[in-house]
Amino acid sequence: MCGIVGYVGYRQACPVIIKGLHRLEYRGYDSAGVALIGRDGQIELYKCKGKVEDLEHFLEGKDTESTIGIGHTRWATHGAPNDANAHPHFSQSGRIALIHNGIIENFRVLKDALKSHGYTFRSSTDSEVLVNLIEYIQDTNECTLEEAVRMALRQVVGAYAIAIVKRGDPDRIIAARQSSPMAIGIGEGEYFLSSDAASIIDYTQKFVYLNDGEVAVIEKGKPLQIKTLEGEASQVNIQKLEMSISQLEKGGFPHFMLKEIHEQPDTLVDCIRGRVSPDSREIILSGVLDNKERFLKAGRIIFVACGTSWHASLIGEHLIENLCRIPVEVEYASEFRYRNPIIRPDDVVIAVSQSGETADTLAAVEIARREGAFVYGICNVIGSSIARATDSGTYIHVGPEIGVASTKAFTGQVTVMAMLALVVGKLRGTLAEEEYHQMADALLRLPDTIRKVLECAPAVEKLSGIFTYAHNFIYLGRGYNYPTALEGALKLKEISYIHAEGLPAAEMKHGPIALIDAEMPTVVIATLDHTYEKTVSNIEEIKARGGKIIAVISEGDTQLRKRADFCIEVPSTAECLMPVVSIIPLQLLAYYIAVNKGRNVDQPRNLAKSVTVE
Ligand code: G6P
Repeated sequence: MCGIVGYVGYRQACPVIIKGLHRLEYRGYDSAGVALIGRDGQIELYKCKGKVEDLEHFLEGKDTESTIGIGHTRWATHGAPNDANAHPHFSQSGRIALIHNGIIENFRVLKDALKSHGYTFRSSTDSEVLVNLIEYIQDTNECTLEEAVRMALRQVVGAYAIAIVKRGDPDRIIAARQSSPMAIGIGEGEYFLSSDAASIIDYTQKFVYLNDGEVAVIEKGKPLQIKTLEGEASQVNIQKLEMSISQLEKGGFPHFMLKEIHEQPDTLVDCIRGRVSPDSREIILSGVLDNKERFLKAGRIIFVACGTSWHASLIGEHLIENLCRIPVEVEYASEFRYRNPIIRPDDVVIAVSQSGETADTLAAVEIARREGAFVYGICNVIGSSIARATDSGTYIHVGPEIGVASTKAFTGQVTVMAMLALVVGKLRGTLAEEEYHQMADALLRLPDTIRKVLECAPAVEKLSGIFTYAHNFIYLGRGYNYPTALEGALKLKEISYIHAEGLPAAEMKHGPIALIDAEMPTVVIATLDHTYEKTVSNIEEIKARGGKIIAVISEGDTQLRKRADFCIEVPSTAECLMPVVSIIPLQLLAYYIAVNKGRNVDQPRNLAKSVTVE
């Protein structure tokens, strides 16, 4: 999704902005631009379709001297990805320049009204409507720009994070947010602005995260001023973000995705650290223990999530139903929010989101809170909107995930869900002490288990060569590994653009088996668990119809070694943690096939890392 970077201070703004925009590339975008205020006080605007690199070429030889600027990467919503629709947008007079993330839903009505006042438009965007609305309001009310911004935003329906600069005002940026992320970095005599604090971590660790309905006046040499849309002063709450720059770099790997796959043993150490005691094997999740009563009395748990986080939630359903005996529902956040769902006061709603910014999941959280449920967050990005909007929660602590296709966040989410189910199961007395300790042991061993699984990478790379040109794939799994099959198929789709479908293995015979022939590879997760024999039968059904089987099997499984066409062996762990193990070869398979096909693995076409529009 769109990304925003801004700077005002004593440095050259342009390089700061370009570096920040590069860091935001992972979000997915199709054009980029920057607005700078030159020495003469004029706003210079440079923007073009394509990558930040294209913008850099475009800027070569131009006068970019300026200590203030705003930059943007656009992910098209209204209007094609082209130069005209790229941000920033000037107001009609050229007095104001604006960048915007989000969608102004009532832009059509506002545009018609502005047209009737003589405004014309250079782009098809909703954002240009907003900048002109601000200008129109300022002109008709003869008020300050800040007042005009607040008045305009009170008329707007939708989501936005905006940044604005004004001709002749080289010290000031105005920023605002509603449902789209916006962090203000605080330096010595300088300010930074970004959709993702991590993108400006080189310069400062001190951040203020704007809340919905807040407008900030960011002025060089002056204290930060934040007000609500009604003009009441808000508290400026500065938070520290601990993060190392190396976490934002590829560390010798050709792609972020491969780096993130290989760092999973370490990210799981970070996820488990301080939560599972190596001595007593006690599991401490303060977010749960501080709210014991809500979990003890929970009549039902509802997961709300999208994409990979939704797949992890399906595993959460198995974990909680098995270990805590609480009924669980797993909802697509986008469906939940518009379905008039029944939410009871004794429900616990768990929102799962890597970015913590997914618009649909955030909306589902707001609905659940409004209806009186207790809302728990499982997020990765510290200080993100969902993390802040929930009553309590647990961070997965896997570090910044840059590759668009989620990998280490998935394994972190499942690991947190396993810890949560163990803590709640123990509290509710639905889990035998012995089982609890066995699973705590398995959790402590999990990073080493994953290290071992990763040894399959060269074999998977070799295997990928055989299937690079397949047009369709089926992924099958049962029980805990049915969601793993869905996730494996999603990985392949996302980055290789090969059609892939994940299914519960036994459902094959109810229709999809009609697709089986020698051209259709089937990836089956068939590790040794309580559904193993059933899965073996499903494999036989496919083989009998000439299908090719790639099986993920447990180490030492000689039966399937003979029956499957290709096997990837993985070590064993507790059955409920198996998805964390079995997803690894599927992440690798998708990665290598995409590389073989020459795809842009880290920034696949049409996708965004953080979907901040609905
Ligand atoms: C986008 C990403 C997916 C991600 C989904 C949910 O579609 O491309 O990788 O799973 O959003 O994101 P979240 O940040 O809420 O987990």
